[in-house]
Amino acid sequence: MNKMLFSPLKLREVVFRNRITVSPMCQYSSEDGFANNWHLVHLGSRAVGGAALVTTEATAVEPRGRISPQDLGIWKDDHLEMLKQITTFIESQGALAGIQLAHAGRKASTRRPWDSGPRPVKLEEGGWIPVAPTSIPYDTNYPVPIELTRREMQVIEKAFQKGVERAYAAGFKVVEIHAAHGYLIHEFLSPLSNQRKDDYGGSLENRMKFPLEIVKAARKVWPEKYPLFVRISATDWVSGGWDLEQSVVFSKKLKEEGVDLIVCSSGGMVSYAEIPDEPGYQVPFSDRIRNEVGIPTAALGLITEAPQAEKILQEGKADLIAIARGFLRDPYWPLMAASRLQIETSLWPAQYLRAKG
Ligand SMILES: Cc1cc2nc3c(=O)[nH]c(=O)nc-3n(C[C@H](O)[C@H](O)[C@H](O)COP(=O)(O)O)c2cc1C
Repeated sequence: MNKMLFSPLKLREVVFRNRITVSPMCQYSSEDGFANNWHLVHLGSRAVGGAALVTTEATAVEPRGRISPQDLGIWKDDHLEMLKQITTFIESQGALAGIQLAHAGRKASTRRPWDSGPRPVKLEEGGWIPVAPTSIPYDTNYPVPIELTRREMQVIEKAFQKGVERAYAAGFKVVEIHAAHGYLIHEFLSPLSNQRKDDYGGSLENRMKFPLEIVKAARKVWPEKYPLFVRISATDWVSGGWDLEQSVVFSKKLKEEGVDLIVCSSGGMVSYAEIPDEPGYQVPFSDRIRNEVGIPTAALGLITEAPQAEKILQEGKADLIAIARGFLRDPYWPLMAASRLQIETSLWPAQYLRAKG
C-alpha cells in the first residue's frame, strides 16, 4: 500500500512528480484581473509543499467572464508578467504550473463570499450584466442574463483561444478548461440552462457543440507536448438536468478532440440541488469515466486523507487526486502525508529538511 500516491505520471511529454494536485481555488484578490504577491505566495507555498501540479483559480478569459470583480484574469498581455513570475517559482520547486481558464456565464458579477450584501453586484457598484446560452437567471435574486448571439459566442471562443496562447507565454504546462460548476460552458451542456432554439440547444449533440468548439480551438494552439484537462460537473444532481450518462458521451468526444484528462467534479448548476456531503462522493464519476471512456481522470471532493487517496488510485478509479480545502488547511499536505506514511521522498525542500520526521 501507499505506493501510487507518490509515483510519477506522464501525460504527453509532461511528468507529474506524484499524483497530488492543488485544485483551483478562487482567491478573489485581484484588481483588474492582475495576479499579485498574494497569488505568488499562495500558489508558491503549495509548490514548496510537494504538490505535483499547482493550478490557478478560475482565470477569466474576458472581463465579463469573472465570477467577481476581484477574479484573476488573462484577457490582456499585461497580465502575463506576474503570472510568469508565479510559474517560474512553481517550477523552481519541482512542481508543474497549471491554469484554469474560465468564463462565469450567468453566474458572473457576484460579490466575493466574505463581503456582505446580496450576492449579485449591481451595475452602480461596478457589476455588469452577465451573458448565457439562454436568458434564464441562476436564481431568483440574480440578474436575467443576456442570451449570446452566434457572433458573441465566436468572440468568447476566440477569448479562450487567446487565453491558451497567453498561458503558454506565461510558462504554464497544463491548461484546464472550466466546463463545470454552472459556469458558461456547463450552461451550454445542461438542459436546465440551455433552452436555445438554434443549433446550439435542444439535443445532446447540439448542447455539446459550443463546448467542443472551444476545446478544439484551445487544443489547436496548445502545444502538442503539453496536456489539456477539462473539468466537468458529472451531474447537476437534479432530474432532467445534465447527468453521468451525458458526461460519458461528452468525455468520449473530449478524448477525440485531444483532451488528456477529465477532472470529475459535480454540481453548481442550480442552488436547490441536493448534494451529498460525504468523503469521496464524486469518486464514482471519476471511476466510471476513466474506465468506460478509457481516459485519465482526476478525482476530487472531500478527499482529505492520504490512505483514502491511495486507495482510490490503487482501485483504478483515478490517475490524479485533486485537493482543495485540504491544501488551505495545510499547504504542505503532500510532505506531511509522505512523512506520516513513512514514504521516503525527495519532496522536502533543503531549507525545511530539519523538520522532516
Ligand atoms: C475557496 C474555494 C475556491 C474554489 N474555487 C474554484 C475555482 O476557481 N474553480 C473550480 O473549478 N473549483 C473551485 N473550487 C472547488 C474546488 O476546486 C474543489 O473542487 C472542491 O472544493 C472540492 O474539493 P475539496 O473537498 O478538496 O475542497 C473552490 C473551492 C474552494 C474551497
